[in-house]
Amino acid sequence: MIRKKVLIFGASGQIGKYCIRRLVKNNFRVVAVTRNTHQKGYILKTQAPIGFIDIVEAQIDDDVKIKRLISENDICINLVGILYEKGKKSTFKKVHTHFPEKISKFCKEEKKNFIHISALALEKAKDSKYAISKIEGEKKIRENLPEATILKPSIVYSVDDNFTTRFMSILGLIPFFPLYYSGKTKFMPIHCTDLIDIIFYVMTKKINSQIIECVGPEIISLEQILKKLLNLIDKKRVLIPLPLFFANLSAQFFQLMPKPLLTQDQLRLLKYDNILSGKYKSNSEIGIPSKRIFDQEVKKYCYMWKEGGEFNTSKYDPQ
Ligand SMILES: NC(=O)c1ccc[n+]([C@@H]2O[C@H](COP(=O)([O-])OP(=O)(O)OC[C@H]3O[C@@H](n4cnc5c(N)ncnc54)[C@H](OP(=O)(O)O)[C@@H]3O)[C@@H](O)[C@H]2O)c1
Repeated sequence: MIRKKVLIFGASGQIGKYCIRRLVKNNFRVVAVTRNTHQKGYILKTQAPIGFIDIVEAQIDDDVKIKRLISENDICINLVGILYEKGKKSTFKKVHTHFPEKISKFCKEEKKNFIHISALALEKAKDSKYAISKIEGEKKIRENLPEATILKPSIVYSVDDNFTTRFMSILGLIPFFPLYYSGKTKFMPIHCTDLIDIIFYVMTKKINSQIIECVGPEIISLEQILKKLLNLIDKKRVLIPLPLFFANLSAQFFQLMPKPLLTQDQLRLLKYDNILSGKYKSNSEIGIPSKRIFDQEVKKYCYMWKEGGEFNTSKYDPQ
């Protein structure tokens, strides 16, 4: 028997795909929203058996369609997010502030549950447009719908991420790698499956009106992460601490790329540790501690970045 209908905005991303798979496995029906069904239809369709997923195309400014979708479903999850701005439509303010504000308002009107994914450690980053827009989005949600639950994850990793996979690709190509802020910034990386455990728990245990910080079991610095990745892909590279002036110059150059490796805004954000603030409850405190250890999880897919790529035989090694 199909349980409830869950509407997911930003369903085609890393967290979205894991979320769909978990929900349909547990007999929920998913309505996955994307801006482009031609581009994302295949990815979305292959996450769920027939009959468990509907794919809908909608733009974030299409209020009529968004309101109708919310009214037709039981629970709404917002996973829409960007790391850099692009054009007039895809700005931090529109995506991270106005869109969550709108969904929370519609969820209030339609009396629906709302789970919003924001990000960890934004509060101190007052010089980052990304952080300000996400914080503003959180505030608007709290004003419109205090019953909503906001999850604030540290960096999320998996074989589908843009973090470990991208770092491993770059580390494989260049002989050295810059260490921004001497690589001292701390993270608590959380595996995507662990984050989905939390989302699922919040949904099924009907946890409302909470802000929860979601972190993995370890605190690891950027330098340690890079060293772990290098070790996992059997590569030796020089890690060079980059003075801020040159870091800024490199970010200015990188942000000219269509998919920037680093922007000046991200560089500013990187200054602040991405760890528990103590201001909100953590996932451990609500009874869902993360179990997955960074090295052990990345080991399962890092063979693709080793010598021989996908044909590297270490994938057959016992984990
Ligand atoms: N990944 C992390 O490490 C991490 C850490 C902390 C917080 N978060 C937050 O968690 C949420 C989900 O993360 P994720 O890693 O799954 O992100 P993702 O892989 O980048 O996916 C985000 C989705 O948002 C949609 N999207 C992107 N730009 C949009 C725009 N301008 N208008 C409307 N939709 C847009 C895209 O869907 P379509 O292209 O199909 O429309 C995309 O699939 C985001 O809010 C992110 O900020 C992520």
